Amino acid sequence: MNNRRKFIKSSLTTLIAGTASYAGLLHAKEAATTKETTKLPSLAGLVYTKDNQGKWKGKAKSHAPLVEIKDKKITITTDHGMSKKHYIVRHTLVTEAGEVVGEKTFSFEDEEAKSTFELPKGQTRLYATSFCNKHDLWLTVVMV
Ligand SMILES: [Fe+2]
Repeated sequence: MNNRRKFIKSSLTTLIAGTASYAGLLHAKEAATTKETTKLPSLAGLVYTKDNQGKWKGKAKSHAPLVEIKDKKITITTDHGMSKKHYIVRHTLVTEAGEVVGEKTFSFEDEEAKSTFELPKGQTRLYATSFCNKHDLWLTVVMV
């Protein structure tokens, strides 16, 4: 009987130690993953700009957002056709700190891809994006 108790106690101790060790391993793995995800990837191939057209070379004129600032308003336009099969899906305006100033989702039935937002105060740089359903995400950096 005593041996049986010793065996059970020993087995439980090993199991608990193993579980703790595994939990530690998971924690280390999560930490590594967190560290990896905090690194900013190269944006090439994810976001296209006038100067980095990547696989969509020649598409900047019709995809890179055009920006006009007037009377404390900022207007984003994408000079792109709007048809059921091919259209601009969305505009977004974001501050340098990553705060979303505004966003507008379009339908292929919209006449044009044009959006207007209040110009936020105290900003020196903004990011305007335009997403095409065929030609991905385009960015224009706006110096205010
Ligand atoms: Fe397109």
